[in-house]
Amino acid sequence: MTAAFPALRLRRGRSAPWIRAMLAEHRLHPSDFILPLFVCAGDSCEEPIAALPGVSRWTVDRIGAQAKAAWDLGIPCVALFPNTPGHLRTERAEEALNPDNLICRAVKAVKDACPEIGVLTDVALDPYTAHGHDGLIDQRGCVLNDETSKLLVEQALVQAEAGADIVAPSDMMDGRVGAIRAALESAGKCDTAIMAYAAKYASAFYGPFRDAVGSGGRLKGDKRGYQMDPANGAEAMREVALDLAEGADMVMVKPGLPYLDVLAAVRNRFEVPTFAYQVSGEYAMIEHMAAAGGGERDALILETLLAFKRAGATGVLTYHALDAARLIGG
Ligand code: PBG
Repeated sequence: MTAAFPALRLRRGRSAPWIRAMLAEHRLHPSDFILPLFVCAGDSCEEPIAALPGVSRWTVDRIGAQAKAAWDLGIPCVALFPNTPGHLRTERAEEALNPDNLICRAVKAVKDACPEIGVLTDVALDPYTAHGHDGLIDQRGCVLNDETSKLLVEQALVQAEAGADIVAPSDMMDGRVGAIRAALESAGKCDTAIMAYAAKYASAFYGPFRDAVGSGGRLKGDKRGYQMDPANGAEAMREVALDLAEGADMVMVKPGLPYLDVLAAVRNRFEVPTFAYQVSGEYAMIEHMAAAGGGERDALILETLLAFKRAGATGVLTYHALDAARLIGG
């Protein structure tokens, strides 16, 4: 009797580094990453963020060097987030519209230090409101859609005026992408792009970020009245379709790993530039696991980032961008 051999042995393709490299379907490159950077008030200061081990807030005078370091590693874009001083956080978020606020000064500092790098700014009111919500609230604490949208339009214009290349509405108000696009065009800012946080879920993974921008302790209630329900996948297609129809150049799915199904579906259905945000809680999960000896940090970083590429992401916003770029480069 002849022994039955497998007709095909897929292990042949895994037998040595050269053939694994040759057959790899996806690869990471530093240009896949957008690095989020946190900005704080003060001078010549780095403030480590306890909830995000290894990530710091930087004062405006030091933010440019951070962006330059990213550019030198091949990272094409940074995303800036402010930790607004407490006394400037108000019910109506006036500081969001101040052309001299932390974020506008940081945009200019980055452009001065590294004119080549792309700068993305977040459009939402949570770093500026006393109550930590992304918009204005009524007496019951409900976020007001259309009133908020008007402010978001002003905020986006102020950021574009300061030099932001991409404005990224992360607030989940209905109709704001179209309103921002129209206002940018009227203001002659036709080259300012919009990356819409199109499918942004009400996630428990944003905790460390809220510490980083100082909105966590202030937040009254939760964001489930405007951010998406984690139970819904089909609804994400409607969100993306709307934002594209309103003029979004690129869309984002957020958080990342728990929503790879949504990311893959968006990419396959719309075939537009689709970004994933590997959020603060995902970063912290990896750092804590590695610190506890449960896994090898570099391998955890690269495997999770590659998963985004496999799911079809055009790029990934990740706090691991610098580490990953170094690992790939070396
Ligand atoms: C605010 C905003 C959040 C994040 C990006 N922009 C937090 C939130 O919606 O509460 C989260 C990013 C992260 O967790 O890394 N509009």
